Amino acid sequence: MKVNITETVLRDANQSLIATRLPFSDFEEILEKIDNAGYHSVECWGGATFDSCLRYLNEDPWERLRKIKSVIKKTKLQMLLRGQNLLGYKHYPDDVVRKFVEHSIQNGIDIMRIFDALNDFRNIEVALEQTLKSGAHAQGAICFTLSPIHNLDNYVKLGRQLEKMGVDSICIKDMSGIMGPQEAYDLIRALKDNVSKPVALHTHSTTGLGPMTYFKAIEAGCDCIDCAISAFSGGTSQPATESLHFALKQSGYETGLDEVVLKEINDFFKPVKEKFIQSGELEPYVLGSDTDALVYQVPGGMLSNLISQLKQQNALDKLPEVLQEIPRVRKELGYPPLVTPMSQIVGVQAAANVLMGGRYLSISKEVKSYFKGEYGKAPGAVDVEVEKMVLGDEKPITQRFADTLEPEFEKAKKEIGSLAKNDEDVLSYIAFPQIAEKFFRNREENTALKVSYSIKKI
Ligand code: CO
Repeated sequence: MKVNITETVLRDANQSLIATRLPFSDFEEILEKIDNAGYHSVECWGGATFDSCLRYLNEDPWERLRKIKSVIKKTKLQMLLRGQNLLGYKHYPDDVVRKFVEHSIQNGIDIMRIFDALNDFRNIEVALEQTLKSGAHAQGAICFTLSPIHNLDNYVKLGRQLEKMGVDSICIKDMSGIMGPQEAYDLIRALKDNVSKPVALHTHSTTGLGPMTYFKAIEAGCDCIDCAISAFSGGTSQPATESLHFALKQSGYETGLDEVVLKEINDFFKPVKEKFIQSGELEPYVLGSDTDALVYQVPGGMLSNLISQLKQQNALDKLPEVLQEIPRVRKELGYPPLVTPMSQIVGVQAAANVLMGGRYLSISKEVKSYFKGEYGKAPGAVDVEVEKMVLGDEKPITQRFADTLEPEFEKAKKEIGSLAKNDEDVLSYIAFPQIAEKFFRNREENTALKVSYSIKKI
């Protein structure tokens, strides 16, 4: 039995442990080895890498992708895309989504993993269609969450829906590492029994369940798991590649991975990790297990956000009440998965409901947009009374929010003018306007400096 392994060190592990601060120069030398390790794919782009390249690393994200592609030639390159939100938090019009997907694939992406925070697949439809049109592998992802309506039937329904939409594979995305081994077994089994596409599982080691969850998922027929080379594994990152490979091999599975090369890759990343520990950018506590998410049924990241928010308002003593309020608000919102941005939206509203001395006395802009239907369709029924409190006489939209948006690409192209050297630059500008513009201006200055320097030399 073959089990595919996706290496996440360049994207999710990098994002989860060191806030995506790994510069290209820190991993350039090891790319060839990574290509020779026998991975099914290498996740190296999307999520926060794009933003972080422009904002903190002074790197052109497109250039990074092209450079990776120029070395990693055999192994498929994979990215994570937030459906209609691309790599940000707002909905972009379809022309931008299509262009972004098209150029990502042209610049080197082979597998596009696409998800929507609400599992409203109208929000991944356009990205998916364009992925297929541009000739890449389209993977539809389902966000995993626990709620009375998120049962096996519901997940099977979502899986079937993705299959009908033409995906090449399906991913179950457990972004907070709360999926237990038995849940994984039942869920993967149910999907394998009902859909014919390969099924991948994505989890994190946050609660310590990760490796067990993967193992049971594989016993149920899971085709692919996401792991991180051990130096960058564990805690809020993925389970370790080498450990899973070892356990699987012992049990008669084939991963296709070369242990000697894995060791070389890990030896390479050990001092890189050490550098980030020394600089304080890698906090040792993120490497351990934290089971609070299992106790409170909220993701670890959401919990730490909530604690710092309450601390700021000098109201940390209200934490138990807020933790009781969260499931209530979530139910009233129709059980959205607690993934970005829904985790923040639910957390902030729950805190406001407790701190303001009355429920929904203060309603955030985001909760209003949510009830209006601007994020998509709620997974379950929303509470009618709360809906009335939030919207008043306003009616929610029923169509896809992106259908209400005007095309943006040509407009943005004009706006940024000659600072953008190609369509990729225009897309960077649309995704992160101020940051991209600053990056372009720096680039111009640096080029000007180089030119004047070489003239002087002559
Ligand atoms: Co993840």
